[in-house]
Amino acid sequence: MTEKIEFPDGFVWGAATSAYQIEGSPLADGAGPSIWQRFAHTPGMMNNGDTGDVACDHYRRMPEDVALMRDLGLKAYRFSVAWARVLPQGTGKVNPRGLDFYERLVDTLLANGIEPMPTLYHWDLPAALDDRGGWLNPDIAEWFAEYTSVMVRKLDDRVKRWVTLNEPWVVTDGGYLHGALAPGHRSRFEAPIASHQLLRAHGAAVKAYRALGKHQIGIVVNIEPKYAASDSAEDLAATRRAEAYMNRQYLDPVFLGAYPEEMREIFGEAWPDWPAQDFELIKQPIDFLGVNYYTRAVTRHQSDVYPLNALTVRQPQSTYTETGWEVHAQGFVDTLLRIKQRYGNPPVYITENGSAFYDPPVVDGEVHEDPLRVDYLRKHLKALHAAIQAGADVRGYMAWSLMDNLEWSLGFSKRFGILHVDFATQKRTPKASAKLYSQIIASNGGALG
Ligand code: BGC
Repeated sequence: MTEKIEFPDGFVWGAATSAYQIEGSPLADGAGPSIWQRFAHTPGMMNNGDTGDVACDHYRRMPEDVALMRDLGLKAYRFSVAWARVLPQGTGKVNPRGLDFYERLVDTLLANGIEPMPTLYHWDLPAALDDRGGWLNPDIAEWFAEYTSVMVRKLDDRVKRWVTLNEPWVVTDGGYLHGALAPGHRSRFEAPIASHQLLRAHGAAVKAYRALGKHQIGIVVNIEPKYAASDSAEDLAATRRAEAYMNRQYLDPVFLGAYPEEMREIFGEAWPDWPAQDFELIKQPIDFLGVNYYTRAVTRHQSDVYPLNALTVRQPQSTYTETGWEVHAQGFVDTLLRIKQRYGNPPVYITENGSAFYDPPVVDGEVHEDPLRVDYLRKHLKALHAAIQAGADVRGYMAWSLMDNLEWSLGFSKRFGILHVDFATQKRTPKASAKLYSQIIASNGGALG
């Protein structure tokens, strides 16, 4: 007999997106350009030359999209605010029409019984701030706090949970170390600076929030647990470095007030000594932690892999998604229990989890089957339930993504949505995974049993 699955009372079921990935109309109504606008319009940066110019056209279709969320039974929606819509220059003059879009979104969500969960930074830095050094300029902590204050003044009467940053690791690794994401820099010397300024900006935003806001604020990190490919000393050391770099680089400073000691080992002379007072700013108490979980990595030592001297080893027996990520639900359990143990069991929201797979064409207005995504969803929600049973304090789950969208430099080629989007017509069609997710929400997990 299978055990009956039931999530805690009040568990928040939702779905997530981000501004540049879905909105389109990036320069409409007085918005300033972002670094993604520039990056996507630089030849050679984007798969197939795709851009966010139209994306899912959500900026113009927002009310219909919220109606789809209601039809799915979502209790929450995590979206991001495009900083350059609200402050076209990044600081200074507010653009009321940009702010108005997010106010209408929040009001429409609430009118449909859906809790808004805005993320203030999901990678689309105003280009005007990049011109002033972007994440390398220490002044960015103040710029980000100013922007946070504008948003909080306007919407904290209606928003109960705010997120400062989405995945600072990806901002740094993709944007400043390897250059695959905006602003496309490749520098071992810049990456540690960007990381540190992201953390200071997060701390400054939390501080600004405490002065103005009455509800909750947290940060979102992506966690990919690392497992050693063998017990050799070299593989174990490589695994420890990879774990520190990806999974502890941000959480240790936020919760424990110090970087993992491995950071110096990884970056060598490029890792600066940071002023002690910075950690006072970074270590502001947060109300919850947002965790994005997609995959794990089995790690072995390989000396020509920069900067970690570590390589992820493919597991022949496993299923891989279209982004090349191993499906490994036990890693989700391990991640949540590790957070519980290392950081004092903070309240956690799963702010992203999902998979890109090939989808069969829409037939008679239906995407009949997306079996691999259905399987991924089932396995990960069962794993999440097991982690909660084992004591992890998880309060909600947001599926990534509400709809197929611009998968950053991979363009529209990778589909993560539970709603299928036909990018030629903008028609949204629920996939089988969306139907299953609706049943799971309606039964608070029961439909997984
Ligand atoms: C990001 C999303 C992205 C997803 C899938 C996360 O790293 O927050 O914006 O689309 O993963 O790659």
